[in-house]
Amino acid sequence: MAEAFFQFPRGFLWGTATSSHQVEGQNENNNWSAWEQEEGRIVHGQRSGLACDWWGGRWKEDFDRAAEAGQNAHRLSIEWSRVQPTPERWDEAALDYYREILRGLIDRGMTPMVTLHHFTDPLWVVEEGGWEDESIAQRFAVYVRRVVEALKEYINLWCTINEPNVVAVSGYLMGEFPPGAQDLKTTFTVMSNLVRAHAAAYHAVHEVQPEARVGLTINYRGFLPSRAWFPLDRLAARTTSRLFNDFFPAAARDGKLRFLTKSQILPEAKGTQDFLGLQYYTEDLVAFDPRAANEMFSRRFYPEDAELSPTGFIANCPEGFFRALDWARAFGVPVIVTENGVEDDTDELRPRYLAQHIHQLWRAVNFNYPIKGYFHWSLVDNFEWERGWTQRFGLWELDVETQARHKRPSADLYAAICHANGLSSEMVAEHTPELLEEMFPG
Ligand code: GAL
Repeated sequence: MAEAFFQFPRGFLWGTATSSHQVEGQNENNNWSAWEQEEGRIVHGQRSGLACDWWGGRWKEDFDRAAEAGQNAHRLSIEWSRVQPTPERWDEAALDYYREILRGLIDRGMTPMVTLHHFTDPLWVVEEGGWEDESIAQRFAVYVRRVVEALKEYINLWCTINEPNVVAVSGYLMGEFPPGAQDLKTTFTVMSNLVRAHAAAYHAVHEVQPEARVGLTINYRGFLPSRAWFPLDRLAARTTSRLFNDFFPAAARDGKLRFLTKSQILPEAKGTQDFLGLQYYTEDLVAFDPRAANEMFSRRFYPEDAELSPTGFIANCPEGFFRALDWARAFGVPVIVTENGVEDDTDELRPRYLAQHIHQLWRAVNFNYPIKGYFHWSLVDNFEWERGWTQRFGLWELDVETQARHKRPSADLYAAICHANGLSSEMVAEHTPELLEEMFPG
């Protein structure tokens, strides 16, 4: 075996990512808490409840762990329904608490990155038409301005909307997220309003804080034609990728919204990304299927020999991460990997997944792709949306009943990577020796 060290640039950001509803607990004024109370929406009827009890103060112990483990950054989100519980009311105590949390990161030597919208909407926003109504863009901008005024002292990196592609597709086409709609026309309306809201937020942040860096994050999923020789599979893969992957960053680049057959120009959206937040988990094969009319005549699945996560949710495709990075850098702005990880309660796959994905990240860095940081999803197990507590993405395991945390072996591997600013053959030998020959041949 060759000895080698895959080194990253100085100042590279190494962290983990979380979101308000998934970790804070006691969020009772948003569309997800309402959704959790409806029968059949969340696996086993599970609830977010206290989540990781960050609102009760346990962010302190989790930040201690992260800092000790060499992480120099953390990405978290602000809960709109806490800051603006009703259209007329601003909760100054909530903003103060967010200030305390962010100071907590800075005191521990970690760079905070803040997401302004991570899947949850205040109930009053839903009542006023939610993402289906154009007025949401202005409402969102008003909230954003208030948050930036309150927190700008601590934050320079802002994500406007987390995965607008997932908000639109999961909520309005697949019906898995609230409001549970399954309608392509509504999905397109929502996509257009998400771009408007992103653009309005981008300008609002820059008006308050001109030097800020602002972007959106995208859930990039690789879509490969199942039969590369078959034109209809290729067409299905390309169409899916255009709508799911390209739509939002392309709109933020040139102000053009490219739907299936039509396009729309929103001039205010042009040039509204200072960086692109890339979130990569896995890759699909796509086959043309004349029976799947409501899924744009395509079927998506994992290869038969794929290495799957325990619930079958994620296939381990590290090369797909490289393809994702290659795709992201083509938008011509710096790239920050704002999420990447795998659900694995027993931590058998995670060390391998982590080492292989960091290896691909390093390859991309060596092609001089402008990649500025990596945020692993996630620091500690948290509430996984419609999958409830059945999927465990944490470097630390959470006992939801007792709130006790237990370190998984991957936490040590990630700590070694963060401390050294790179991945070495010794780390692989210690944590995932089965990869040694493949990763360090010779
Ligand atoms: C992302 C999402 C996160 C987290 C993750 C793992 O799509 O932004 O909130 O749930 O998936 O499922």
